Formats: sequence, C-alpha cells, structure tokens
Amino acid sequence: FPRAVPDGAASGIVEVAHRGASGYAPENTLAAVDEAAARGATTVEVDVQRTKDGRLVLIHDRTLERTTDAKDRFPDRSSYAVDGFTYAELRTLDAGSWFGAEFKGERIPSLEEGVDRMRAKGLNLLLELKSPERHPGIAKDVASVFQSRQWWLWPSPEGERPRLVVQSFDHGALKSLHTLLPRVPIGLLGRVPERDLDAYAKWADQINPKHTKVDADYVAAVHERGMEVFVFTVDKPAEVRSAVESGVDGVISNLPDTVRADIRTA
Ligand code: G3P
Ligand code: CA
Repeated sequence: FPRAVPDGAASGIVEVAHRGASGYAPENTLAAVDEAAARGATTVEVDVQRTKDGRLVLIHDRTLERTTDAKDRFPDRSSYAVDGFTYAELRTLDAGSWFGAEFKGERIPSLEEGVDRMRAKGLNLLLELKSPERHPGIAKDVASVFQSRQWWLWPSPEGERPRLVVQSFDHGALKSLHTLLPRVPIGLLGRVPERDLDAYAKWADQINPKHTKVDADYVAAVHERGMEVFVFTVDKPAEVRSAVESGVDGVISNLPDTVRADIRTA
C-alpha cells in the first residue's frame, strides 16, 4: 500500500492512539476508542488476546490485576491470567475505575465490539496480536472475525490509509495471519536487523520498533524495501522531534492530539 499518505496532518505522519487514547481514558476500552476519535486521531492501536472459552478480547497484560478489579471480584483465584477466565467472567469486571472514577463500569471489550465501534467512529485499526504464544491458533480466530466483517478488508480508496494493519512481536503468528488474510498489511514489532529486511519485505509492510531504536539510516533502509516505519511509544516533544527527523511514517502515542501539535512544530 502507498507509503506516507497524508492523514490530515501537514507532515503526513500518522498519529496512532496507543491502546486507544490511553493517556486520557482506560487503555483498550471503548472509552479509549471514543476518546481517540474525539481528539482527532485517525487510527487506534489495541491488543487482542483470547479467553478460556475462546472469545477474543481487547487487553494488554497477560493478567487482569493492573487494569481490572479481578482480585476483588474473584478473591479465591490463584491466577489472574486472561486465558484462565471465561468471557462471561471477564464481562463482570470493572476495567475503568483503576484509571479514574468517571470510568467506573467500563468493560473489557470483545474484538468484535471494538472494531464495530472503530468503524462507527471512522477510525482505522492497528491491531496487535498480543502474546500469541499463550493463545495457539489466535491468528485464525482473528482472521475469522474480519472474514465476517469484509469492510475492514476492502482495498482503501486511492490516497487513503488501509483500514486494518495487524502487528505483533511474534513473527510466526503474523505469517499465519498473512496466509489467512493476504490483503491485510502486516507490521513487525521490534527492530528487524537490516540484513533481514529483504526477506521480510516479501510479506510485511511495516517495521514498528521502539522509538529509541531507529535513526534516519534505518528508516531509509526500510523505505528502500517499500515498507513503512511506525515507532512506539512517542509522547514527549523531544521524542516526536527525533522521530520526525528520522523520517518515520507514523508515531504510536498515548497522547495523539498533543503529538500531532508537536509534529507540526518539529
Ligand atoms: O504499538 C506498539 C506497542 O503497542 C507495543 O508495545 O507493550 O504497548 O503492546 P505494548
Ligand atoms: Ca500494543
């Protein structure tokens, strides 16, 4: 797909709201998706995992303690692993109060619920397969959600960004996803060594490292192979400046609105 397509920002750099606009609302919730749209983001990044009974849900950590009240609700459990709970159990949890009282009652969304809200809000999606080694076969489950939501797979009109990109630190899981959904652009998380870029360019579309791991030479090497670079997690003005100077195509940020302003002045 075309590289460095303008998303409304003068620079052409895409701002991706990390875990939703997670600087302003509890990460990976519908409130964070809504907040991203309200703050003018064009794209949200969220993390997908799978429950004990096979439902796909949006949550970052492998366990529930940090972002939910699971310990209070299920005090007798010895483990709070996401994949040790059924979907019905997860839906009883409060995934908002830890962030702020005004978010009390926010739920862990299903992937389906999340993507339907993003579509309604006009947002593109950068979806991370999170810890897929914990969820064997999750690429197939994710693919089936989008096979029944073909809108996400439509080729984007000329000059527009793809609606869906799937990324992961697990390149094997991405390869599976790519085989199942060959039209969906793929993002490799982490800095891929330059010697491996040619091989990855055959099936991947983005290299998405931590922002401290790239410089202008690395970005140029990725661009030469026809791929993009999105860096995470970029919140501070100095980080924005460095990303812009390196020539990245996108920044993944908890504060997508302030980062947009910083890009304009970088
Ligand atoms: O989008 C990149 C970023 O989300 C990867 O790190 O830990 O926030 O999922 P993490
Ligand atoms: Ca993520």
